[in-house]
Amino acid sequence: MYELYSKGQIQERVKEIATEINNTYGDEQLTVIGILNGSFMFVSDLVRQLTMPIELDFFGAKSYMGRKRNPGIHFTKEFDIDLKGKNVLVVEDIVDSGNTMFIVLDNFSGREPKSLRLCTLLDKPTKREKIVHMDWIGFEIPNKFVIGYGLDYYGLYRNLSNICVL
Ligand code: IMP
Ligand code: MG
Repeated sequence: MYELYSKGQIQERVKEIATEINNTYGDEQLTVIGILNGSFMFVSDLVRQLTMPIELDFFGAKSYMGRKRNPGIHFTKEFDIDLKGKNVLVVEDIVDSGNTMFIVLDNFSGREPKSLRLCTLLDKPTKREKIVHMDWIGFEIPNKFVIGYGLDYYGLYRNLSNICVL
């Protein structure tokens, strides 16, 4: 196991992204939806740097391989916020194949938000299957399995303050 991004590097990048998000929305209210479980740490650091009125909840999405290796997504947590007419910012830990975010964003756009943007901590573009537009990316990483800062390997390592390659 070796470190890819230190705690300090992550915090610095979170601050930069937050500044861009603050500049994009100004004083307009923002609805932040974090995708569980991986985004919890990124969300909590990011929202503390945002300056507009924030409404926050989490959405649970788990990917699985169905028959004929067709990827499917199982929603594990719904939220009560009505997205209609809202500025919605989806916060995800990592976009890999893109299948999870493709389905989640399609679901959310059907709820008629005023705007829908995606902020992902990590982008792993090498095995992309679905094109997903990412408005903010923390770091683009090579095709390695990473853990820490919310990301897990069989449920472990989410609590690390840095990002490591396993
Ligand atoms: P997708 O392939 O873009 O649908 O990503 C599905 C999910 O796989 C992500 O939301 C992560 O939870 C998980 N995932 C993908 N790559 C990694 C990794 O390197 N470490 C930990 N989880 C990952
Ligand atoms: Mg995830």
